[in-house]
Amino acid sequence: MNLEAYLAERAQLVDRALEKYMPALPRPAKELENAMRYSLFAGGKRLRPILALASAEAAGADPVVALPAACALEFIHTYSLIHDDLPAMDNDDWRRGKPTNHIVFGEAQAILAGDGLLTQAFYILATGPYPPSVTAEQILAAIAEIARAAGAEGMVGGQSADIRAQGQGGDPEILDYIHTHKTGSLLRASVRAGALLAGAPMSTLSSLTLYGEKIGLAFQISDDVLDSTGDPKILGKPVKNDAQKQKLTYVTLYGLEKARAEAKRLAEEAEAALVGLGPSAEPLRYLARFTVERNH
Ligand code: IPE
Ligand code: IPE
Ligand code: MG
Ligand code: MG
Ligand code: MG
Repeated sequence: MNLEAYLAERAQLVDRALEKYMPALPRPAKELENAMRYSLFAGGKRLRPILALASAEAAGADPVVALPAACALEFIHTYSLIHDDLPAMDNDDWRRGKPTNHIVFGEAQAILAGDGLLTQAFYILATGPYPPSVTAEQILAAIAEIARAAGAEGMVGGQSADIRAQGQGGDPEILDYIHTHKTGSLLRASVRAGALLAGAPMSTLSSLTLYGEKIGLAFQISDDVLDSTGDPKILGKPVKNDAQKQKLTYVTLYGLEKARAEAKRLAEEAEAALVGLGPSAEPLRYLARFTVERNH
């Protein structure tokens, strides 16, 4: 499997669907539409949507069953990045290779663009369209899954803990809460939503859930590593930010080498969680490795 070609092909499929889901707003709200579009189409990796599609595939379904969920996840993720970059949060001025949303549109429109993306995600989830094989119960389960993972019990809780922990020194328990929630929750939900919409049996759902948890944590550890070692031109965002902001990260608490080793170990455990699944889980195996070997 050529991972690069696979990622590019899937990202294209996702981009076409995102385009359809992005509402055209009337003239008084054009600035909001522009702000939403600006960040949505700034060139993200589309990892969460790709995971949702690959998970549906691993569970034996046509990946299109997960396309609305895939797009909803990217709307939510993009909102989380816009808000993460705000002056009141990480105060960053560069994202996805462009000036951040609030730098271009101002804080008020950036906050609203995030709100618009978040809410639109649940409209997309509720309305699909889904192929006839997908039941209303499965759709409801996917909506509940994503809502819980994105909210206070998931990503938002993690973001709150991340801000709270700044400049407070290192507590490993808090660090794990931050990483499994601010980033892990949405990655886990991406994998689970794909499986739920595919109608995966319980044993498959359990394997995929464990996989999602492992790559979720591995992905944020590798984000910490890239903050310390990455190339900002390739990453599309600033580096050496975490230490300067006294963020609690795997690199600031354990050092670079231990962080790298932990991410690698988690990616291996993620792959091991898929042993019961056949060749249809091959893309997920590659994605586990990509999570920690990536340079962007
Ligand atoms: C960045 O996410 C923020 C984290 C949760 C670590 P990604 O690395 O997936 O960012 P994009 O979507 O490719 O821009
Ligand atoms: C952000 O974590 C996680 C989100 C929920 C957006 P970071 O603050 O480490 O993400 P980057 O490094 O700014 O992309
Ligand atoms: Mg942050
Ligand atoms: Mg940030
Ligand atoms: Mg980071």
